[in-house]
Amino acid sequence: MNFLKVKKSLTIALSLTAFTVFAQEKDDFAKDKASYPLGVAVNIDLMRKDPFYQKILKKEFNSITAENVMKWKYLQPEEGKFNWGAADSLVGYAQSIGAKVHGHCLVWHEALPDWVLKYKGNPEGLEKVMKKHIQTVVSHFKGKVSSWDVVNEAFADEGTGGRRVNIFSETLGPDYLNRAFEYARTVDGGVKLFYNEYGLENDKAKLEAVLEWIKSCKANNIPLDGIGLQCHVNLKNTTSQFTNMINKLKDTRLLIHISELDIMVNGDPKTPGNVVKLTPEIQDDQAILLKTLVTAYNYLPRDQRFGITFWGVSDRDSWIKKYYNRLDFPCLWDEKYKRKQAYSALYNTVK
Ligand code: XIL
Repeated sequence: MNFLKVKKSLTIALSLTAFTVFAQEKDDFAKDKASYPLGVAVNIDLMRKDPFYQKILKKEFNSITAENVMKWKYLQPEEGKFNWGAADSLVGYAQSIGAKVHGHCLVWHEALPDWVLKYKGNPEGLEKVMKKHIQTVVSHFKGKVSSWDVVNEAFADEGTGGRRVNIFSETLGPDYLNRAFEYARTVDGGVKLFYNEYGLENDKAKLEAVLEWIKSCKANNIPLDGIGLQCHVNLKNTTSQFTNMINKLKDTRLLIHISELDIMVNGDPKTPGNVVKLTPEIQDDQAILLKTLVTAYNYLPRDQRFGITFWGVSDRDSWIKKYYNRLDFPCLWDEKYKRKQAYSALYNTVK
């Protein structure tokens, strides 16, 4: 065979392979099998520019969370100056593909502009600032955003079971948390209001502290509709951690959203890890862990299953690498936007 012929048959073989992969994948979408929404955190630049990314959003997801553009520093970078452009275009995009929008997030100690982070006024002033931010944002998106993470990550880590020390808790006291929910409710009676937290699968004291707070919300009529479990999990997590967390939250009768799921293969992101290549064996382990988590989630009564949202589409755009400066492969699609084994596990497990 001369060079040209080799090249031609290679091209045919390659395009056949590409077609076969596409054909196998084309008709089966986990979102069509699931009785609850499947969502994803969307990176606005990729949403605007990358056709492969857009195709996955359109076909695979019916719920969208803004990865960043609805956070405080993007929406109100300067006091009183709201910047809706990027968030509005994300909402428009979601509408165009028939996906709902989960708002993330109103009050968080990260992604704050300096004017809030370094706030030096009196508590009444900061209370007004928080109230205005919450009410302006919730009102702006009323009817377009169906649920909000009202407060994100307000409880402390490492088994202390206490509240996180941040500008809000220090200046306003721990009950800022409850008031944030009340402020949101006054401007939108129908939107679902969530408290969002990470690490509840690992940190027993944190889980207990959140459960206690949920009880106090019920006793005090705080308008809390649901709990978001971020679930930035890794291969060291265990089935019993997930079942324990889900069982305890089931008893609250609140909506439960797995809100930021990704499965790291290099252990806790603060450690270096030694997986530099995604082997089939590692893919298997990742798929198994996803299966155990989704299985635990499926045990919730149907009316408590708010949905599962993944934090990123593909390993190439996952936040882990940049944020922790560490390699990982935590998503459902690989660097080349090809479905991974974890996707099959999801497909086979959702119900
Ligand atoms: C992350 C984004 O993915 C990154 O792009 C950004 O640099 C930092 O924030 N918990 C949350 C999310 O609630 O908002 C975080 O998102 C990931 C951890």
